[in-house]
Amino acid sequence: MLTINRGLISLFLFFIISNCQQQKQVEETTIAKKEGVIAQNGMVVTAHPLASQVGLDILKKGGNAFDAAIAVQYALAVVLPKAGNIGGGGFMVYRTKEGENGALDFREKAPLKGGRDMYLDKKGDPIKDLSLKGHLAAGVPGTVAGMDEAFQKFATLPFNEIIQPAIDLANNGFELTEYEANSFNRLQDDLKKVNNHTPYLVREDEYQEGDSIYHIDLAKTLERIRDNGKDGFYKGETADLIVKEMKAGKGIISLEDLASYEAKWRKPIIVNYRGHKVISMPPSSSGGLVLGQLLKGSEYFDFPSFGVNTTKSIHVMTELQRRSYADRAEHMGDMDFYDVPIDMLLEDNYTKNRISDITMDSATSSQVIKSGEVSTIESFQTTHFSIVDKEGNAVSITTTLNSFFGCKVMVDGAGFFLNNEMDDFSIKPGVPNQFGLVGAEANAIAPGKRMLSAMTPTIIEKDGKLFMVVGTPGGSTIITNVYQVILNVIDHGLTMQEAVDAKKMHSQWLPDRIIIEKDCLDSLTIDSLQQLGHEIKEINSIGRIEAILVKEDGNFEGAADRTRSGDAIALGY
Ligand code: GLY
Repeated sequence: MLTINRGLISLFLFFIISNCQQQKQVEETTIAKKEGVIAQNGMVVTAHPLASQVGLDILKKGGNAFDAAIAVQYALAVVLPKAGNIGGGGFMVYRTKEGENGALDFREKAPLKGGRDMYLDKKGDPIKDLSLKGHLAAGVPGTVAGMDEAFQKFATLPFNEIIQPAIDLANNGFELTEYEANSFNRLQDDLKKVNNHTPYLVREDEYQEGDSIYHIDLAKTLERIRDNGKDGFYKGETADLIVKEMKAGKGIISLEDLASYEAKWRKPIIVNYRGHKVISMPPSSSGGLVLGQLLKGSEYFDFPSFGVNTTKSIHVMTELQRRSYADRAEHMGDMDFYDVPIDMLLEDNYTKNRISDITMDSATSSQVIKSGEVSTIESFQTTHFSIVDKEGNAVSITTTLNSFFGCKVMVDGAGFFLNNEMDDFSIKPGVPNQFGLVGAEANAIAPGKRMLSAMTPTIIEKDGKLFMVVGTPGGSTIITNVYQVILNVIDHGLTMQEAVDAKKMHSQWLPDRIIIEKDCLDSLTIDSLQQLGHEIKEINSIGRIEAILVKEDGNFEGAADRTRSGDAIALGY
């Protein structure tokens, strides 16, 4: 009897609190509308002002969104070396002015000498940090091949004009922002420990905001790419420097790995969400599939009436996320190696079945395979940029070294960092990676295989026209962050900037808890979620969305995440 009464009281409280929150939300959303940067002809949103400027300059001189995207990717490798890269990889989703869409996979690959147990000791246990730091953590980089594919298919300007701004930044130097000065300071210990040479970024005194920084070796590498296309990276001097670096540090990337790397065009994941066509990244990223599952499940719930960050919305989002991330762990991996059941995972009946046990009055317990406990999810060292040109071509690119400055190895003489993307494989079934994500056979290591990503570059159409370009860094939180931004705009009527600024939550099946950004929820909401059985953990920030919305009047609203990264900026004209 006591149990029933408690249950009824909880349910009663839950509805009272939720209804108050909904009322509050309705009031909030009818007050002020905070918009981002508005422009008519084109918009570039990136994590760094110099990269946004490079993209805008390309658009203004008549380049299209693809020209600008390639220029931005190379500029980010210079001005944001903790995440922007040529030593890493990423994904592009595009929509042309004619409405054609597609996806490009330039994810890193496991080296040919890699294998399933390469990070395990003789007892079969993972060796601490081996997949995270140092030469063996690096996958074969994909960025330069990706940019080459995009250039061959879509560019309108000559390649030397597209890449030259990055070369100029590297050769002529530029002033460090406070964020980047701090990044270099935080890197120093690892930089000295991991490298066998002394990278030019090693410094005894602290970097300061405003210091001029030059990347001379990187400029030479970019010049080789300018002059020889992708062969300037995957063959010749740059390839030799990478392999020499590998040999110096017991790494295994070979000349054959580099020469055989290819970026791949993929068929995007497409789902409809309340009349919108959502176009996102297929495997080797889990981003589009998990996002698609979340959106399909969301259509069965009245999110518009739930409001932003209320007990109901957080509870239902968590339940949906729990199920989709469980599917991710079991079913998702590189499609070239594993038969990912894409159609099944997005089927209507599958969705209905999957959500049928979601109730509004209690949290479902995630079954424990292995402890998914990780100390924290704070590595947001991926970067996203969104670009639209005056013709309406749209490009959404998320690119990464994985952790902060990747595996911390700088290729001696070539001036760039290598990724530590190998940690995104499931190095042993059920053992969590740095983001607490677990996996199994689908994402086991194999030579030449791409490791599963969560990157979710996404483009949305409404009524057959471009509506939104969106993406974010954030490791495993990428997908849930993009998902919330979409709900914030489509279901809750927020502007692009408000949707980006809104506080975010994240859950991922294992570990079985909800992560919330500081100030995301008030104590009443936290209490009511705990009463439903959810464990809550607060962290400082989740994601850094860089997005563009096409407004009803046809203007672009560019929204950079300046609250979480003051360097991010939307520039339009
Ligand atoms: N390295 C993060 C991701 O690809 O999801």
